[in-house]
Amino acid sequence: MTDESPGVSLPLPPDSVIEAEKRAAAAAAAALAQDGMCVGLGTGSTVAYLLAELANRGLRDMRYASSSPATTHAATALGLSVESLDAFGDALDLAIDGADQIDPNAWLIKGGGAAHTREKILASAARRFVVIASAAKAVQALRPPVPVEILRFGSSWTLHALAPAELRKCPPSPDGNLIGDYLGAIEDPAALSARLSATTGLVEHGLFPPQLVSDILIAGPQGVSHRRGAKAPV
Ligand code: 5RP
Repeated sequence: MTDESPGVSLPLPPDSVIEAEKRAAAAAAAALAQDGMCVGLGTGSTVAYLLAELANRGLRDMRYASSSPATTHAATALGLSVESLDAFGDALDLAIDGADQIDPNAWLIKGGGAAHTREKILASAARRFVVIASAAKAVQALRPPVPVEILRFGSSWTLHALAPAELRKCPPSPDGNLIGDYLGAIEDPAALSARLSATTGLVEHGLFPPQLVSDILIAGPQGVSHRRGAKAPV
């Protein structure tokens, strides 16, 4: 359809729809932040909208921990105060992050941006972990790849132990480790998570269990839906 007459609204191209959904999910999550909170920030394009929403809220006495140099840079440019996670003592009040895939049981795949190790630490350190995504990220069953971060030392052996797996052509993680992907089928996320975690040389993998997740905010054509994960917000 090419009608350009005034008053005729054409369907948004899919990319624009997805960007609007990311922004809507980010806005819903930013509304959960309150003055004085310590908040962990994930990484990615959905989190970029979150940073803008948090900055626009004009909250006071906020402290932020970041999962990547890219997030630190963007947050700082918006005037958000980013500190080392170690400055926060035992816990964050809240962590908010995107995801690559979200299954019906609240298992996630993360790490498309190679930041999943730090992201998992922030999610674990937070009393409440909120996942934000466009509807495009909701899947019936998780599918490969699963991002993996591995030590440089012995990386060929580690990749062999993780097989089928391969290194990704991307910069190293923020901590200088190699980034790869596990490419096998994901029939049982819990069993695969245990197998990957048990592999010597693996630093962390991108499967996030429901026990880490408090809330999932997915924005779609009907607005933002809210699902609970297994981690009760404190
Ligand atoms: C980075 C991540 C991101 O959260 C994930 O890749 C989603 O990114 P985006 O919001 O750009 O779709 O896990 O390591």
